[in-house]
Amino acid sequence: MDSQNRDNIILIGFMGVGKTTVGKLLSQRMGYEFMDTDDLIVRMAGISIPEIFSRYGERHFRTLEKQAIICALEHSGIVLATGGGAVVDPDNFLFLKKRGCVIALDAGEDILWNRLKASTDRPMLFSDRPRERMRKLLEARRPIYHRAHFVVLVDDKTPEEVTDEIIAIIGSGWKYKRKEN
Ligand code: S3P
Repeated sequence: MDSQNRDNIILIGFMGVGKTTVGKLLSQRMGYEFMDTDDLIVRMAGISIPEIFSRYGERHFRTLEKQAIICALEHSGIVLATGGGAVVDPDNFLFLKKRGCVIALDAGEDILWNRLKASTDRPMLFSDRPRERMRKLLEARRPIYHRAHFVVLVDDKTPEEVTDEIIAIIGSGWKYKRKEN
């Protein structure tokens, strides 16, 4: 397939759901390039994500995130993993949906907490009560993630199983089967 005409696959979803791990596997299986908005942001800023938040605040991070999304989707034939807050901005979400097949990965709250509780590099969870903070964020964001073209439940599936599911979605003519909302 000509690389100019290939669609992109865009992974969205909450922190810890496995967008990067699955995205890398998926890109290998599809022969697509893998890109990650968080990596682009760190390269653009020259400092880590917690440093961006602590020095310049979340608003600045979101500005960089928007730029990273636009930059990444100048390419085609990519698998793009986005940060958990990327689609909270409706314009970002619309843009992503125009540029590829947007797949939300989702998992139960306990599974996510188990994966996130030891994390030290996610400023959105820096709090005296990180579990409570996670729960509130998840509650607010889950309905947004569910506006993706497709939602794949991750729970205790392996990254390989999740990748297989996504490949089945893509292979089944996603343009005709996706939800329009
Ligand atoms: C964020 C998620 C992070 C990263 C930043 C903000 C969020 O990405 O973009 O810390 O708002 O949920 P991951 O979803 O890859 O952890």
